[in-house]
Amino acid sequence: MNKPAVFLSAIAGAVVVLMTSCGKDPNDPGKEYMPDMYRSPSYEVYSSNPNFPDSLTMQAPVKGTIPRGYEFFEYPSSNEGYEAAGRDVKNPLALTDENMKEGERLYGIYCTHCHGESGAGDGNLVKIGKFPPPPSYSSAPSSRGGLMKDLSDGKIYHTITYGINLMGPHASQISPADRWKIVMHVHKLQGQVSGAAAGDSTSAAVKDSSNATAMAK
Ligand code: HEC
Repeated sequence: MNKPAVFLSAIAGAVVVLMTSCGKDPNDPGKEYMPDMYRSPSYEVYSSNPNFPDSLTMQAPVKGTIPRGYEFFEYPSSNEGYEAAGRDVKNPLALTDENMKEGERLYGIYCTHCHGESGAGDGNLVKIGKFPPPPSYSSAPSSRGGLMKDLSDGKIYHTITYGINLMGPHASQISPADRWKIVMHVHKLQGQVSGAAAGDSTSAAVKDSSNATAMAK
């Protein structure tokens, strides 16, 4: 065959392939080269699945499964658990500037919208009338007895973990270490000598008087 003939038959071959590779049905992909490469035979997450008794592809984790790094908090979500945690649990983290700063940052993310920047119970959700004011950390009584300013490490940690009444639990979104850093910042807003040293109600000394004045208004 001469060159033009080779060229012509190549074009004719290409036309035949093009004309036959697509059918009338727009959903029919026609002939595909190694379709498994891009049409995986695996099941989609939300598709039904004949291999499991419940026909679901996405199976629930085995009962009792815990996430990697999970830390068990042995005090139950009850008044007894709250009181026991308040008595026995102390902040395991060192009261460093770095931890305090991080606690303040995290408080700004998770707590300010209700409790307010200074902890007076005047967060934005309260200001726009979407949420009743939480009690002030420095000057109000706790609904569980005693004063907010005397709440100990363990009581605050228990509250962040399980919530209380209108305040929801935060265990799923804040790691234990981050909760402890937030506890340090709450101590500061209470006017307690902040951190681990301020674990009980007898040490409610005011450390930062400018802060206390700001909250007394
Ligand atoms: C959706 C609003 C809301 C958010 C967000 C919120 N709180 Fe609260 N919090 C409340 C309310 C309301 C109360 C009062 C509940 C009661 O005593 O009935 C409260 C109570 C508390 C108490 C007092 C518990 C006690 O023993 O009396 C502490 C401490 C506290 N919150 C800490 C926090 C911290 C720390 C965060 C952020 C991690 C946070 N809260 C996030 C609304 C909120």
